[in-house]
Amino acid sequence: MTTPTHIAIIMDGNGRWAKARGLPRLAGHRAGVEALRRTVRAVSGTPVRWLTVYAFSSENWARPKSEVFDLMGLLKLYIRRDLAELHQSGVRVHVIGDRDGLAKDICALLAEAETLTRGNTVLNLVIAFNYGGRDEIVRAMRELAESARRGDIDPESIDEAVVSRHLDTAGMPDPDLLIRTSGEIRLSNFLPWQAAYSELVFLPCYWPDFSAEHLDEALRIYAARERRFGGLAAQGVAS
Ligand code: FPP
Repeated sequence: MTTPTHIAIIMDGNGRWAKARGLPRLAGHRAGVEALRRTVRAVSGTPVRWLTVYAFSSENWARPKSEVFDLMGLLKLYIRRDLAELHQSGVRVHVIGDRDGLAKDICALLAEAETLTRGNTVLNLVIAFNYGGRDEIVRAMRELAESARRGDIDPESIDEAVVSRHLDTAGMPDPDLLIRTSGEIRLSNFLPWQAAYSELVFLPCYWPDFSAEHLDEALRIYAARERRFGGLAAQGVAS
């Protein structure tokens, strides 16, 4: 079975999961963290080497202050509680997104997680936090324009590889499979450059319900899509 090297996930539906149970949205986000924990463990047992999760988008600042506060708190709690286990399991943590807009204590925690786990090789966990794809591209363009203005780079030499190297994801492989839960069928500014050729899988379940079975289902869908292309070529040879 063809396994993706890199899975990216839009963890959507925490709010609706909570609403369906008559619970506050925070309960949905808490259950979302549990689902993230389970997913990291499940993915660690597969040949997948990269897992990128959309934890807070640059557009999420538009939510009520209390919810933004809760999401910041949950990130801190997640790193504080899980960093030791992640490290022991050989998970390397990376963070993408604009850190300039984040509080100092959060930046310090993110840096600590990245530094501690730098040598790990079992799984790369990329947390997209204060991340927006267009914002990432704008920041990369600014850097390139500054380099050109200083005369450090010739605009003629700017190609796709150069742009990729200026994105937050520099050095990371593009996602092979992108999963979104909750039944919404859009990318919402998540990895627009990197997901240009990703296989997209939209699952109806809310993120807090995402389980190892859903992961297997997405992997099966991915493998079938890959196999269909191979199948056409094989039929062509046989006929
Ligand atoms: C979408 O659900 C989810 C988010 C905006 C945040 C994702 C966050 C988590 C899974 C938990 C936090 C994890 C970390 C590491 C901080 P939604 O609120 O948009 O749900 P809805 O569309 O049903 O309202």
